Amino acid sequence: MKIAGKTVCVTGAAGFLGAPLCRELIARGARVIGLDNFSVGHAAKFEDIKDGLEVYTADVRDPDSLKEPISRSQVVFHLAAIDNRKICEQDPTLAFNVNIMGTSNVLSLCSGAERVVYLSSTMVYGEPKYLPIDEKHPLDGYDPYAVSKIAAEHLFRAYHFIRGIPFTIVRNTNTFGPGQGRSYLIPSLIIEGLTRGQIDVWTPGVLRDFQYVDNCIDALIRIAESAAAAGETVNLGSGLGITVGELTDIICRQLGASWVDVKKPAPVSSRLVSDISRLRALTGWEPKISLEEGLRRTIAHYRALVETDTK
Ligand SMILES: NC(=O)c1ccc[n+]([C@@H]2O[C@H](COP(=O)([O-])OP(=O)(O)OC[C@H]3O[C@@H](n4cnc5c(N)ncnc54)[C@H](O)[C@@H]3O)[C@@H](O)[C@H]2O)c1
Repeated sequence: MKIAGKTVCVTGAAGFLGAPLCRELIARGARVIGLDNFSVGHAAKFEDIKDGLEVYTADVRDPDSLKEPISRSQVVFHLAAIDNRKICEQDPTLAFNVNIMGTSNVLSLCSGAERVVYLSSTMVYGEPKYLPIDEKHPLDGYDPYAVSKIAAEHLFRAYHFIRGIPFTIVRNTNTFGPGQGRSYLIPSLIIEGLTRGQIDVWTPGVLRDFQYVDNCIDALIRIAESAAAAGETVNLGSGLGITVGELTDIICRQLGASWVDVKKPAPVSSRLVSDISRLRALTGWEPKISLEEGLRRTIAHYRALVETDTK
């Protein structure tokens, strides 16, 4: 299936991943409906594509508001979620209503879709039993965010069972790039380096799989287009592990800054690297932009923001 010419709905369209996904879908010739309740995302993210995008204000907790845009879409990318883990812990009812019931509401309207692509997370695996983590790893995540993603994944299987909805579940890893909220790890390291010239690092030993946003968006579209990916669950990431200390070294080299280990305890799982061989085999996709180049582009974005802040 080619995305060009299809009507495609992106839920969570105003978010960090939703906005560039809409942009790339339009560039590849799709008719795009961007759906969001704008609780986190901003319409300003669409400024440059507003002529090609049909913006739809709707809440995934309200099935009536979803009916019209979703039932006329041939492809649905379901991204709308409470993604912030702290908010999920402070208000699990909100997290479960949006991430679980919201997913059920979306799926209940997808009977006519050719493909529904779901943005799950590698957080579903919990503390890894082995590395790199493949899709057969047990789903041991127990915090409210991870549990909401695990439950939502099961809903896809249930709706496939009762209605035959063709889906692909994508267990996405830490993604970074221009437009990400400033409180996330990479933006906060960069902004500290830009403003202080020295970065305090809490957890230099933590091992992660960081992918640049453009690689992620390219993969999502390849997944939707791939017949072989229908009914599959795939990891998406760079497939490469790097410690937070090594990552900060690269950022510091590019900024001409330095960093110190402030030795605070890590509130997060210590190691996480995705095995992306299933995604490669099913779609032929390869990440194109290196970590270093992704960081260069991300630094340029936050440098411009910091300069605007100080004007
Ligand atoms: N960014 C990452 O590194 C990453 C990693 C793994 C998985 N994911 C998943 O990918 C998806 C997109 O992530 P993101 O980084 O763009 O998150 P984001 O928080 O930037 O975007 C989520 C969007 O959903 C919208 N939204 C929230 N509640 C809604 C509701 N009730 N109805 C309609 N819209 C609602 C928000 O306004 C926001 O625009 C999420 O499902 C997230 O869990 C992201």
